[in-house]
Amino acid sequence: MMYSRIAGTGRYLPEKVLTNFDLEKIVDTTDEWIRTRTGVERRHCVREDETTSDMCVEAAKRAIQKADVDVADIDLIIIGTTSPDLIFPNVATIVQHRLGIPACPAFSIEAACTGFIYALTTADKFIKAGEAKCALVVGAECITKLVDWTDRNTCVLFGDGAGAVILKSSEQPGIIGTHLGADGQYKELLYYPVGASKELHKAGTDEAGIVMAGSEVFKVAVKTLGNVASQALESAGIDQSELDWLVPHQANIRIIQATAKRLGLPMEKVILTVQDHGNTSAASVPLALDVGIRDGRIQPGQLVLMEAFGGGFTWGSVLMRL
Ligand code: COA
Repeated sequence: MMYSRIAGTGRYLPEKVLTNFDLEKIVDTTDEWIRTRTGVERRHCVREDETTSDMCVEAAKRAIQKADVDVADIDLIIIGTTSPDLIFPNVATIVQHRLGIPACPAFSIEAACTGFIYALTTADKFIKAGEAKCALVVGAECITKLVDWTDRNTCVLFGDGAGAVILKSSEQPGIIGTHLGADGQYKELLYYPVGASKELHKAGTDEAGIVMAGSEVFKVAVKTLGNVASQALESAGIDQSELDWLVPHQANIRIIQATAKRLGLPMEKVILTVQDHGNTSAASVPLALDVGIRDGRIQPGQLVLMEAFGGGFTWGSVLMRL
């Protein structure tokens, strides 16, 4: 049996940092409201001329170096993002060219905040099927370019960044289990009202920002993420006490606390970046994973559960040994 295993991780965060105090000057809000309701203290924001592929390239370089692989060995690129540079070509091909990776399948997956989990799951299937041996998988988002900066309900939540992993074939697991899901009936609760075949002329104007029914999203997220975590452990026959780390999507500290509680997991076993990154959508899980690995908390061989939830709704989990 062939498995896939993470051989290296990397992250990139834009230089510019926007604190809650900075936001107090932009919209009618307070540091206290943002911190207590969301856990966010600061977030990184791209420069006007910075793009998703710029961030992917930097995060990927760090993952490639950490995994000690040659770019010539990479035979699959998948990028989870809802904010690609262009409508086409897909951002993975732009990243492929800029990194000098030879011809191979390169595509992006759009599943909102679950984008990285969808991308990693897909790469795992390619490797298990014997169709790839060394994949570059990235979650990246320039979401602050989509935000309406006059809407205090949403603009305080989001940030930009990219997290990358190198996923290699391995005789040892590696990824133990993956679960993806989606339910399109919830579209109205969280969406971006502009796309290639609809209202494109509004993109980037104050007529088009993220539309979100915050408290409704909150309720479904808590319920779904709790179920996703239990399902991942149950189907692998693993007791929650065996779990070393939860690396959740970083949308809101209160959603994360509820998931940890449901798993009976102390918060010391949860990698938290929401305070520093905000909600970076598809980038949030690989960013948190890289933080936990590079600061030495997540050790080789440990059992890690990653999970995410986003617009659609979409959701998913990856259970793995590092
Ligand atoms: N600063 C100050 N007040 C704000 C505010 C801000 N930035 N944003 C909203 N408010 C106000 C609202 O206008 C509302 O005022 P009102 O009662 O006078 O109408 C009040 O705060 C409470 O709003 P509510 O939506 O009930 O707060 P909440 O406790 O649900 O927290 C969220 C709001 C958005 C933080 C929370 O619902 C959330 O995190 N939802 C999930 C979002 C998410 O995860 N999205 C991405 C999914 S991947």
